[in-house]
Amino acid sequence: MNKRILAGFALLGALALTATGCAGTAEPGADGDGDGPIKVGFAQTGSESGWRSANTESMKTAFSAENGFDLVFNAADNDPAAQIAAVRDFINQGVDAIVIAPIVTDGWDDVLQEAKDAGIPVVLEDRTVSASDDLFASWVGLDFKKEGVTAGEWAAEQYGDTATKMVVLEGTTGSAPANDRAEGFDEAIAGTQIEKIDSQTGEFTRDGGKKVMEGFLGKYGVDGIDLVYAHNDDMALGAIEAIEAAGAKPGEDIKIISIDAVKDGMLALIDGKINYIVECNPLLGELAAGIVKDVLDDKTVEKTYFVTDQSFTPEQAAEVIDSRLY
Ligand code: AHR
Repeated sequence: MNKRILAGFALLGALALTATGCAGTAEPGADGDGDGPIKVGFAQTGSESGWRSANTESMKTAFSAENGFDLVFNAADNDPAAQIAAVRDFINQGVDAIVIAPIVTDGWDDVLQEAKDAGIPVVLEDRTVSASDDLFASWVGLDFKKEGVTAGEWAAEQYGDTATKMVVLEGTTGSAPANDRAEGFDEAIAGTQIEKIDSQTGEFTRDGGKKVMEGFLGKYGVDGIDLVYAHNDDMALGAIEAIEAAGAKPGEDIKIISIDAVKDGMLALIDGKINYIVECNPLLGELAAGIVKDVLDDKTVEKTYFVTDQSFTPEQAAEVIDSRLY
């Protein structure tokens, strides 16, 4: 499988040109038929997190009318069946291309085959699928496993030498980031004194993270938990609320590591309530739009485009917070 790494966030637009060898925006009238805007159906997961809001905004900006697109947007409220139905609807509408941020990895074979049979190219953004890569043209997103490894290596370095009881707030069950972030972290802490005592899904939402953390605190008590690994910032922010309500100090009595680096997460990190954040860049719109344009223009595209992530301690977060775009 071809892989291309795209590094650096400030340069994302310029890198899109390097990666896809295209002008980045579509010419009006450059659709499959050459007589109007490019009609693109975008099947978004839902609106579960701050990351997702930033991703949706990035996609809507890139697939705008000014850039020559006619975007049909669907957010499936994290219901995999509803997302597949939305893709089927795009096929029936005869869109020029389909972009999907797949809620879960499995279950895509049939509908992707239907899109292929209809001659409609599919580009995946953000999350991956388990279906054969013959069924989609390209994917652009983040290396979720590496995010987990980075978070786990920091945990191992900071806490791995002393007995540390850890609970995990997992993302959506069956999603690529939940699977890969768990796997990467577990690999990185193997052989250390960090012990995973519990792990449950908080569905990538703040409410979900809060409720699951309340359950963990009820079961193990404040003194029975040393570390929280949250698969995203929103769940970490929910956990902070639960820990404070239990009379303890997040970031001190119970350490927290999370992933995303959205604004609210970074502010909590600077406040000392989160101890470490691994970034997951949501600004994928311009890259995805460039890939769609190239595919429709019959240009060669890579099967996989990885965007690299950074990671932040509180001090590093304080240095960059004013220049963050999301
Ligand atoms: O797929 C990316 C993940 O989905 C983000 O980490 C999370 O916040 C989002 O909802």
